[in-house]
Amino acid sequence: MSERINVLVVGSGAREHALAAAIRTSPLCGDLFVYPGNAGTAQITSAARELPKGSAPGISANLYGQYRDLMRFARLNKVEYMVIGPEQPLADGLIDEIRQCTSIKVFGPSRNAAKLEWSKLWSRDQLPRWIKRPKLLMYGHLKNQAGIDSHIRCLQKRSVGKVVVKRDGLAQGKGVAICANLNQVREQLVRFLEDLYEYGEWILYEECVVGEEVSMHYLVDGRCCCLPLISARDYKRAFDNDQGPNTGGMGSYAPRALNFELLQALDEIAVCSIQTLSEHHNPFQGCFFPGFMLTDDGPVLLEVNARFGDPETQSILPLMKTDPLELLRATGEQALPAWIEWYPETVAVSVVLVSAGYPGSHITGHPITGLETVERMENIHVFHAGTALADGQVVTAGGRVLTVTAYRRYLCCSSSESVCSGGQHPLRRYAVPY
Ligand code: GLY
Repeated sequence: MSERINVLVVGSGAREHALAAAIRTSPLCGDLFVYPGNAGTAQITSAARELPKGSAPGISANLYGQYRDLMRFARLNKVEYMVIGPEQPLADGLIDEIRQCTSIKVFGPSRNAAKLEWSKLWSRDQLPRWIKRPKLLMYGHLKNQAGIDSHIRCLQKRSVGKVVVKRDGLAQGKGVAICANLNQVREQLVRFLEDLYEYGEWILYEECVVGEEVSMHYLVDGRCCCLPLISARDYKRAFDNDQGPNTGGMGSYAPRALNFELLQALDEIAVCSIQTLSEHHNPFQGCFFPGFMLTDDGPVLLEVNARFGDPETQSILPLMKTDPLELLRATGEQALPAWIEWYPETVAVSVVLVSAGYPGSHITGHPITGLETVERMENIHVFHAGTALADGQVVTAGGRVLTVTAYRRYLCCSSSESVCSGGQHPLRRYAVPY
């Protein structure tokens, strides 16, 4: 058997808890850490050595603040492999820095490849033109109240109705709003403005496409191959019956059954996008995660992400039979297997528990009770996000607090569905000629 390796998962959400829980099952996993983690990840990780005061030799000056501490933590705890969960460190170039300045192996794309996610305008420009995207009605730079007035005037001239308003950059799941009329657009722009730096940001106005969302995830080795995970569906809007504002994600399930033809159509969009990036000298390595809307006119690519989805990951990983750590490492070593094994005819459903007020302002510090009872239940995982320990008590510490995932076998599946809902069809391992 190969030697065990010490692994560090970066992030503090339920996605990172799910990644850590899956990685911990691998016989390859030595010490496991999550940084900064939460009250849930603290229960499954190794005892970490404390950070000393002082500098971190070998780490470039670009890695400031939390990344300096992160890298010091990694060195001190002899981390050999890192998995970056959230999008912000990718946009900040953390992966590039780790690759340049340390011998630690890391899962994820470079800052340039991750730009697909951290600039929606750039992403529109990069991907092949034949891919259907929501129509871009208008875009404009926003940095003050005068900008809001000007955007509204332009939209009035185009007499748009329902419109999707998006910030170009990252916004922790709060950068997209569906607005029924221009009053709602104005209110949304005011909210965006509160969060923007003085230099402002580009805002995109897109037509609203209607249908069912599907999240696809592909492990991409950056050289020659791309392998899909099972399909998933996430639910982004808060409140019952999808009546609330867009959030980072309120729930998910996997697999999302799709017929094989449609799966291949989605795969083609993903593979061509990955190949185009490579042709533009931005080879993608990591988890490529396009979000689609299935409309009456076929699939529309809504967005592209450069990491695992949250809360999709919480539904996908409990269904994976293949060793997850081996798979992640194989991605970086251009050694992806022929296919990934999944628990057959099993589905997982995840529900996100949030603080009252989320995605707006919310109060934290409330005690969470009953966790032990749920954790003892069969086929249930509780993945922590915004939680902390205060005097031995788990308390809320963020907007999204917990993801509760339940999974079970079902027996009513036709043979064609079982092929199509899983990711293990040999025809779905793609060569990406670079
Ligand atoms: N669930 C959507 C996302 O992770 O961006």
